Amino acid sequence: LPTAQSATSVILVTGGCGYIGSHFVVQLLETGYGVVVVDDLSNSTTESIRRAETIAQRAILSFYQVSVCDTNALRRVFELYEFDAVIHFAGLKSVAESVSDPLSYYSGNVGGMVSLMSVMKEFGVFKLVFSSSATVYGHPHYLPIDESHPLTPTNPYGHSKLMCEQVARDMCRSDPRFKVALLRYFNPIGAHSSALIGESPLSTPNNLLPCITQVLASRLPALRVFGTDWPTHDGTGVRDFVHVVDLASAHLRAVRVLGQVDGQRRKEAKEAKKAKEAKEAKEPKEKEKDGNCFTWNIGTGQGYSVMQIVRAAESASRKTVPLVLSPPRPGDCAHVVANPSLANSQLRWSPKFGVDEMVRSAWEFQKWNPEGYNAGVDLLPVTR
Ligand code: WQD
Repeated sequence: LPTAQSATSVILVTGGCGYIGSHFVVQLLETGYGVVVVDDLSNSTTESIRRAETIAQRAILSFYQVSVCDTNALRRVFELYEFDAVIHFAGLKSVAESVSDPLSYYSGNVGGMVSLMSVMKEFGVFKLVFSSSATVYGHPHYLPIDESHPLTPTNPYGHSKLMCEQVARDMCRSDPRFKVALLRYFNPIGAHSSALIGESPLSTPNNLLPCITQVLASRLPALRVFGTDWPTHDGTGVRDFVHVVDLASAHLRAVRVLGQVDGQRRKEAKEAKKAKEAKEAKEPKEKEKDGNCFTWNIGTGQGYSVMQIVRAAESASRKTVPLVLSPPRPGDCAHVVANPSLANSQLRWSPKFGVDEMVRSAWEFQKWNPEGYNAGVDLLPVTR
C-alpha cells in the first residue's frame, strides 16, 4: 500500500487498534494525514489496523505496541515524529470492571492521561482530542443532557474520565498553548460499511449491541434484558446510539476546529483588548477561564429503547433474539439522551446514519467475522 510519507500533518492515535480508534484511522488515512498508532493491545489486535489500511488503500506510518502509561516508551515515539495533534482513545472502558477493579481505571485512564500530556508538553505538541464519555454525567438531572449538566459520575470508570477531563482543563489554564477537545460519547455502535472493521473486543462484551450480535451468531445463548419496567415507552432502557463512523467524523472535525483556534483566539483577543480599553476590566467569563479547552456531546439527540434495538437487529438478520428478562443492572437508569446542539454548531458536525444502518452494519460485521478479528489471522505487529 502507498505509505503516507508525503502527508503534511502527522497525527498520533493512541488506542488506534480499538473499535473507535480503527474507524478514525480509516478517516485520517482517507483524508491524507500521516498516522502513527500506539496501542498496548490489551483489548485489540493489529488486524484492525491492517484492515483500516485496506479500506483506505493507504498505509499508516508506523505502529508501536506501547502503553500510554509507559512515559519513556511514549517519549521514544515522540522523538521520531513531529505530531500535529494527538487523538487519545487508549483506556479501559468497562463500567462493571471499574467497580471491581477501580485502581486499574485510575492508574490506566488518569495515569495514562497524565503521562501523555506530560510528554506532549515536553515535545511541544499542544493539540489533543480526548475520548470522554457521557458517563461523566451520572444519572440525568434533566433531558436531553447538555454540556452544562451536573457532572456526577456513579462509577470509577466515569470518575476516571472526569478526572482526565480535569487534567486537560487545568493544563489548558496553565499553558494557553494547549488546545483540547473533550468529546463525550453517548452510545457508539455499528461498523464500517465494508464489514471489515467493527466492534471486536477480546473480552466478553458488556454493551447492548455486541451482546445482541453475539446471540444472533449463537456465541451467546440469549440476551438478558436488564429491566423491563423502566418509566419508558416500552419499559426498557432508552439510550442515544450514535454510529461509530459518525463518531469518528466528529474527531476529524475536532482536529480541524482546534487547528483554527489560533486564528480565532487572536481575533478574539484583539476584540477583547479593544472592549477592555473601552470598559472597566471585568471578571473573566467561565469560558475564558477554561482557555482553549472545549467540551462537546457526541450523540444524535434521539433515544431508542433496548427492545427497539432488538427488533431492528431481528429484521436486519431475519433471526429471532432469545430474551431473558432480568432485573436492572446496579447503576443503570431509564433514559440517557444527548443534546448535541453545541457539536452541531461549533464543530459543524451532524450524524449521517440512522439506527437501522447502525444495527445493520453491526450485524454484517458479526456475520462476516464470526470470531471477530482473531479467527486465524496472523497477529504479527504492523511495523515499518
Ligand atoms: C445500554 C442499554 C442496558 C446489555 C455504557 C457505558 C458508557 C459507554 C457506553 C463507554 C441499557 C441495556 C445492555 C445487555 C441490556 N461506554 N442492556 N442487556 O450502560 O448505556 O453505557 O456503554 O464510554 O460509558 O456506561 O450502554 O450498551 O451497556 O447498555 O438490556 O446485555 O442496554 O440496561 O439500558 P450504557 P450498554
